Amino acid sequence: MQANIGIIGTGTVGSGVIEIIKNQKDLIKNRTGVEINIKKVCNRTIEKAKALIDESKITESYEDIINDNEIDIVLELIGGYDPAKDIIISSLKNKKHVVTANKAVIAKYGKEILEEAKNNNVSIAFEASVGASIPIIKTIKESYAPDSIQQIYGILNGTTNYILTRMEEGMSYEEALKKAQDLGFAEADPEFDVEGKDAAQKLVILAKLAFNGDLDDNIFTWGITKISKNDIRYAADLGYKIKLLAIAKQDDEIELRVHPTMIPKDHELASVNNELNAIYLIGKQTTKSMLYGKGAGKLPTATAVVADIIDIAKNKQDNLYLKETKKKDINKITSRYYLRYNVIDKPGVLAQVAKILGENNISIAAVQQKEINKDVVPVIVITHEALEENMIKAIKEIDQLEVAKEPTVLIRIEDIH
Ligand SMILES: NC(=O)c1ccc[n+]([C@@H]2O[C@H](COP(=O)([O-])OP(=O)(O)OC[C@H]3O[C@@H](n4cnc5c(N)ncnc54)[C@H](OP(=O)(O)O)[C@@H]3O)[C@@H](O)[C@H]2O)c1
Repeated sequence: MQANIGIIGTGTVGSGVIEIIKNQKDLIKNRTGVEINIKKVCNRTIEKAKALIDESKITESYEDIINDNEIDIVLELIGGYDPAKDIIISSLKNKKHVVTANKAVIAKYGKEILEEAKNNNVSIAFEASVGASIPIIKTIKESYAPDSIQQIYGILNGTTNYILTRMEEGMSYEEALKKAQDLGFAEADPEFDVEGKDAAQKLVILAKLAFNGDLDDNIFTWGITKISKNDIRYAADLGYKIKLLAIAKQDDEIELRVHPTMIPKDHELASVNNELNAIYLIGKQTTKSMLYGKGAGKLPTATAVVADIIDIAKNKQDNLYLKETKKKDINKITSRYYLRYNVIDKPGVLAQVAKILGENNISIAAVQQKEINKDVVPVIVITHEALEENMIKAIKEIDQLEVAKEPTVLIRIEDIH
């Protein structure tokens, strides 16, 4: 079998794909019978492409790839929405299969893209868009096809997991971010990662596939910038670790959220450290399993892209569909909560906090006062299960108390079983 491909974008991932196809050509052919032939390559900065491949294969316009009758599979590896979405849709309309690593486009326009692929009887593959080298898309689509996935818990962003791991060792958030930037795990502008937006896009893709839901990419997202190393230490004292967790649950409605989460420190996800990613799935029949590995990087990501090319060349066709699905209102979720107040240490303060929580139907499971003998002290409250909207209202009221010296820190607790 021969797969004639056109590559649009020769940055980190695109250059990795070219490298793998060059270096592993024989291995791929022997193992799978597929011979991958790069027909055309396009990159905005043409010199970058020239450094990677014979000049005769380089074109200045991606239109040349989309409209080339001899190309069977188009690789969209430029990222972002525009012109990436257009490239994908136009290629599908031209009856070309598409492989992409683009989480943004699939999270936002997944339904339209899947329908376009189906209408034209071609495939759209996007394994690399979530978890890079971790074969989570394939696992959900194929291995879990006979099962009903109930819950997904993901550590889907390497940057934040790296930062939280360093903070466990005593670094401040700022020190850990700087180290992540120095090592290339974090961008100069880290907002997309540290605010949880990257993890949110990936979660939406997983949830679409796991629940066959037409879910939009506007989900509750809360980043790690307000977490202090003291919270990490206090969580450890209570038997928990803090992870930026992407959570999806199937009930009458689909619950989707990304936020720092306290998870039991003996849970498998708690041992996923540094820049690694993991996805913990709970299926009705299969019960629990976890996939774990490199969630980014040139060759891990490019390997997933090339594996998608091989699947398509072997005529593996999906029948993906997305149906109308209701997302749960974040205000209606329930959780246990960790709250940290910085309050003036004087008699009656705890009673004021407890009164507000009680008036909002929130019951306290445990209270700890840290670092006594100071004027302003951190007070940790762990609650029983409470309604999110009640909790947010209570915090607003507590933060207005005269004794409250800093906004309350809230971390949701997930006792994953
Ligand atoms: N890097 C990873 O570890 C990783 C992991 C998982 C998924 N992904 C996804 O993979 C995709 C590519 O990421 P990347 O890290 O390879 O990005 P990158 O290094 O920035 O590469 C993107 C390439 O696309 C080129 N490009 C941009 N607009 C173009 C256009 N209109 N026409 C032709 N070429 C264009 C850029 O050209 P210039 O040379 O002019 O900049 C650049 O070489 C993204 O969707 C990303 O989210 C990446």
